[in-house]
Amino acid sequence: MEKITSENLREKFLRFMESKGHKIIPSASLIPENDPTVLFTTAGMHPLVPYLLGQKHPEGTRLTDVQKCVRTGDIDEVGDDSHCTFFEMLGNWSLGDYFKKEAISWSFEFLTSPQYLGIDKNRLAVSVFAGDETAPRDEESAKLWEEAGIPKERIFFLPRKNNWWGPAGLTGPCGPDTEMFIDRGYEKCSETCSPACDCGKYIEIWNDVFMQYFKNAEGKYEPLKQKNVDTGMGLDRTLCILNGVKSVYDTDLFETAKAKTEELTGKKYDESDEVKRAFRIILDHVRTATFMIGDQKGITPSNVDQGYVLRRIIRRAVRFGRNISLPQGSLSKIAECFIEKYKNIYPELAENREKIISELDKEELKFSKALVGGLKEFEKVIAHLDGDTIDGKTAFHLYDTFGFPVEITKELAAEKGIKVDEKGFAAALEEHQQNSKAGSEQRFKCGLADTEAQTVNLHTATHLLHAALKKVLSADVNQRGSNITAERLRFDFNFPRPMTKEEIAEVEKLVNEVIAKKIDVTREEMTVAEAKAQGAVGLFDSKYGERVTVYTIGDFSKEICGGPHAKNTGDLGKFVITKEQSSSSGVRRIKAELH
Ligand code: ALA
Repeated sequence: MEKITSENLREKFLRFMESKGHKIIPSASLIPENDPTVLFTTAGMHPLVPYLLGQKHPEGTRLTDVQKCVRTGDIDEVGDDSHCTFFEMLGNWSLGDYFKKEAISWSFEFLTSPQYLGIDKNRLAVSVFAGDETAPRDEESAKLWEEAGIPKERIFFLPRKNNWWGPAGLTGPCGPDTEMFIDRGYEKCSETCSPACDCGKYIEIWNDVFMQYFKNAEGKYEPLKQKNVDTGMGLDRTLCILNGVKSVYDTDLFETAKAKTEELTGKKYDESDEVKRAFRIILDHVRTATFMIGDQKGITPSNVDQGYVLRRIIRRAVRFGRNISLPQGSLSKIAECFIEKYKNIYPELAENREKIISELDKEELKFSKALVGGLKEFEKVIAHLDGDTIDGKTAFHLYDTFGFPVEITKELAAEKGIKVDEKGFAAALEEHQQNSKAGSEQRFKCGLADTEAQTVNLHTATHLLHAALKKVLSADVNQRGSNITAERLRFDFNFPRPMTKEEIAEVEKLVNEVIAKKIDVTREEMTVAEAKAQGAVGLFDSKYGERVTVYTIGDFSKEICGGPHAKNTGDLGKFVITKEQSSSSGVRRIKAELH
């Protein structure tokens, strides 16, 4: 097989899907829009949930993209060959259009055709759903694979644990899937060896999910109005397989950043296992931080929500940097390599270059100063420890005084075979501040977009608030972030000073006037150029996505947005601003409720 670069692979995938009638859409932001339950986009399907549930997508029923994703659940595994906190997912979707037959035959064609990946079909194995009380055994997919040329003995029927995908959280679209694996040709590890075991014979390369169910809050599976296909292929991992390298860190994605880290430390990436692990953690974490800060809805380090995760990964990179003598100020230099590598695919990185560099430098400096003292303090704690657990108050002290995220304390403790009382830490933190991290971790674990009526109403109220702020404060006010739970909306916007009481009252009044007028919320599809011409508010950064959805509320608000929204402002109730506070430098935050 010829060597293939990341650029080639993205291009081949999108062009192939385009040739099958898919529209190429841009990668959505890493920060989910108006999704109360998750902090980051974790799969290509994530931004498409409303459309998988039946809403019409402006680009039609066949879509494809390369989506930026962040998953921090396995952050402790980063450092091995394959785990990363950031990755790209190649995907294609049928929104009630084609189903198993096309999905499977196209997957087979893309994997095996010499024009595309050219993988020998004798190296492929697949798994299909074995069936249970929710959905039947997937004989149809098995037959389709057989017809494509995969012999029976390499088609495995596996249970729900292996062949059911989603929902991404507690509720949402989901269904049985069929997964594709490369058989590395090793001997079977046992009689029952299959892609379900982790002996290393089989590596997953692609997943086709047949999304036909909605798992509701009671845990029941309701059939969806439409049968969808959702596929996902990890770009980094596929590159590894295609190029016959063992680790994602040996692909072109990391080449320049790795060389830069060698230059900065004077160490060789593979001079020892310990050095290699530190290199990998730094490379992964800096790449993730670069994408988070440089995102179209870029975030900055803070003590809550996404900002906390960002802070935690930057600080972890700083800590491992010490192990390989990475000089102060290096993270931004490594980030520059990633900006260069990815900027043609994600132009937002180049646009936000200054911000990426300054935020990394700032956070690195802040933590480097505290790290030395914190490590000394940690040693003292260990020396005086009674038992095998660091209590919550002490862990909180390390956090509060030395900026040690509890995960770092945990990690340092684990290296000495010691535990940390995390509940005690959470309690101490809760006591200290209302916005507890425990809450944000909880949200991180929970499900997908909650489309309950109240959330939808709060989403519409967010548009009204945005428009009212522009009218009362300045036309230059723009959304910097939005987050909605069933109880409240939270809206971040650029503005240089606290709002006055009068301004807050005026904004509330304007919004409530529009609510009182019972105005219909209308939805239209148009091109980005048309939306721009009509003065719609939104991010005009789409590279491929030509058609967008625009929501209009009388002559008060017009925004590019995926929805969903209330039908009429009369459904909203009374709008009340409960808080106006600073979010970060130059950014204010409003919390509001509907009563
Ligand atoms: N949503 C599926 C996955 O993430 C394709 O594997």
